[in-house]
Amino acid sequence: MTEPFDAVEVIAAKRDKHELDDAQIDWVVDAYTRGVVADEQMSALAMAILLNGMNRREISRWTGAMIASGERMDFSSLSWRTADKHSTGGVGDKITLPLAPLVAACGIAVPQLSGRGLGHTGGTLDKLEAIPGWRAALTNDEMMAQLEDVGAVICAAGPGLAPADKKLYALRDVTGTVEAIPLIASSIMSKKIAEGTGALVLDVKVGSGAFMKSEPMARELAETMVSLGNDAGVTTVALLTDMSTPLGLTAGNACEVAESVEVLAGGGPADVVELTVELAREMLAAAGKDHVDPADVLASGGAMDVWKRMISAQGGDPDAPLPSPKETHVITAPASGTLTRLDALSVGVAAWRLGAGRSRPGEQVQAAAGVVMHAKPGDQVTAGQPLLTLQTDTPERFERAVAALDGGYDIGAGRVDSSSVVIDRIR
Ligand code: URA
Repeated sequence: MTEPFDAVEVIAAKRDKHELDDAQIDWVVDAYTRGVVADEQMSALAMAILLNGMNRREISRWTGAMIASGERMDFSSLSWRTADKHSTGGVGDKITLPLAPLVAACGIAVPQLSGRGLGHTGGTLDKLEAIPGWRAALTNDEMMAQLEDVGAVICAAGPGLAPADKKLYALRDVTGTVEAIPLIASSIMSKKIAEGTGALVLDVKVGSGAFMKSEPMARELAETMVSLGNDAGVTTVALLTDMSTPLGLTAGNACEVAESVEVLAGGGPADVVELTVELAREMLAAAGKDHVDPADVLASGGAMDVWKRMISAQGGDPDAPLPSPKETHVITAPASGTLTRLDALSVGVAAWRLGAGRSRPGEQVQAAAGVVMHAKPGDQVTAGQPLLTLQTDTPERFERAVAALDGGYDIGAGRVDSSSVVIDRIR
């Protein structure tokens, strides 16, 4: 087959700050998926996009081309309406675990296609795999049956969904081209639109532990994704939320599952409960069911029942003890005073180095690895008290994890604003 374009001319156009036209975009995404455009050519184009940007038309067309590279799912045969949530990734971000069963218990089905950890950010599938027996891979038919029966499913996206993104994402990960707003927005939204959810709530993280370190950049990402979703007929809203400090008191795999179960049982850290309930409210409103208050449903134990059914349906034992670490190392407070800062990136890198994340693609993560925090910014601490407990099965990892936390917290006399984790709402 003769190709209508030449990859070099498309790369040079973006390098020279020109707009790519619709036909060029459709071709380059399709040709890359077919293997006609080589990895090194797509790397050069991704870098040109990172440096020179894309306008809204180009981003929308690029997203459409990634959707067209694979299958589209369709939930219209379900007896439920559907809503999904996507987080741009953070440290201690276990919200999907209590949120999916909570929204299902409120009457809206949640088809949550999740991912694995990326760099210092944790992955929902890695966390759930800490539960004995639980499996992430479901066929489309299994997913549909579980959604109809239980109302919530958290599983891996199948190979047929946006294959262009699977290839391009792996390439960006190793070519320094992850942090480009057009590429992040099209990557996330192509998967969510192809998945076929009726409504979508985006949790766009801002701060040291997020990919977007500044509020203006996070806002631009959120606005771009919200317009892509709404233009594709998916009711989409975004919350901008703080990721300068970890969410909750745990960052890792089994320890985050345990904290999520505490939330489902009516306890858990205030920031995790607040964000779970806020996101649930947004999902219910976007799906047209805002007369149910998720805070009441959480308190009633209804979400815990759905959690147990959701875990069991995927082979997991929700009552089995979670793996515990072979070794722990406690970092104590060096002084008395107020914990004025606990840096999300430092904690995320420490958890990653302890074995909660991967240093090479395909590596096995440790279920019991992670960091347990004994205080959050604003809490009073006393010199010598435990501040952080590091957990791993391989104690030779402690040294580099401790190094990651060096300079990652401050204790002083200052006050800490007890502001909400939600910074803004974008629709
Ligand atoms: N998550 C995604 O799915 N894609 C990105 O590009 C970044 C975060």
